[in-house]
Amino acid sequence: MSTQLHSSSAITIRSLSKHYGGLAALDDFSLEVERGSIFGLLGPNGAGKTTLIRILTTLMRQSSGEVRVEGLDPRTHGREIRSLIGVVSQENSLDRYLTARENLELHARLHGMDAGRYRRRIDDLMELMGLSGRQHDLPESYSGGMQRRLVIVRALLHEPRLLFLDEPTTGLDPQSRRAVWEYISSIAGSMTIFLTTHYLEEAEHLCDRIAIMDHGRLIALGSSQELKDKLTGGTVYQIEFNDQVGRYAGLLGGMACVREMQVSGQTVCVGLESWECLSEVVTALNGASVRRISLKERTLEDVFMDLTGKGVRE
Ligand SMILES: Nc1ncnc2c1ncn2[C@@H]1O[C@H](COP(=O)(O)OP(=O)(O)OP(=O)(O)O)[C@@H](O)[C@H]1O
Ligand SMILES: [Mg+2]
Repeated sequence: MSTQLHSSSAITIRSLSKHYGGLAALDDFSLEVERGSIFGLLGPNGAGKTTLIRILTTLMRQSSGEVRVEGLDPRTHGREIRSLIGVVSQENSLDRYLTARENLELHARLHGMDAGRYRRRIDDLMELMGLSGRQHDLPESYSGGMQRRLVIVRALLHEPRLLFLDEPTTGLDPQSRRAVWEYISSIAGSMTIFLTTHYLEEAEHLCDRIAIMDHGRLIALGSSQELKDKLTGGTVYQIEFNDQVGRYAGLLGGMACVREMQVSGQTVCVGLESWECLSEVVTALNGASVRRISLKERTLEDVFMDLTGKGVRE
């Protein structure tokens, strides 16, 4: 395979596997990430997200399969890749003996930035993330959310072409999370962003494309809307009755176009094959005393739970 394969993609992953002893953390995983997009990777605890990011960011080698980052193979072009990427790892890895600003300056020098350029950039980014007032303090005196924002500033300092964010907003309060979202949205298009998250709302809000993985395997891929359309199995309507709910539930449950049904109190939720079935349902309900029929929007969280189940992971 040539190193320039799929140069239109920022990231190419082919049949990637990673074993820790007998455990397959990644299992025949393939994916393309388009340049300039915001890509979200979702999956329960232990799904393999961090393992994948470690391989892409040159911190770990795969057991088998191929990876290209900006056309480069991490096994042979680690140094080049590291100069092109910014990484926010799952754990904040800050030097505890240096102040926040010194942490950033060290990072800038390691990336060969000259002082004039990095000083200005540090000022701007610290201001943007609301950290200017605390820049001369040690990171351990920061709250968890401030440390997270500092790590994000550090990852952006050298103007990477590709930004990896492993759960960037875990532990952030809603204000800080929104600030990070706003920043990520504002730089969208200027670089490729690959993020993992447990916040489905975050993926929905930010990402052009979303992959859902579990047990090291890719199980779904598409835009948030595509995933919802494709995977929720048609549309769900909520029908509230004034009376005789049992009788009409029985009737609806026997209809061919009703895929699934749940009754709670006076309300019946029916999952239909497609929205066209609604007229059949309305005809069947002729004479019933219906208080309200409403469309129940499925969320990305519904899709996620359908695909990955309800069991708690490691
Ligand atoms: N260094 C390691 N040695 C052995 N097993 C590991 C190691 N790192 C990860 N694993 C295992 O590999 C699997 C994938 O872990 P990984 O950290 O990639 O998951 P994740 O999707 O990032 O989970 P989380 O959402 O909890 O961060 C898990 O079963 C984990 O226990
Ligand atoms: Mg992880």
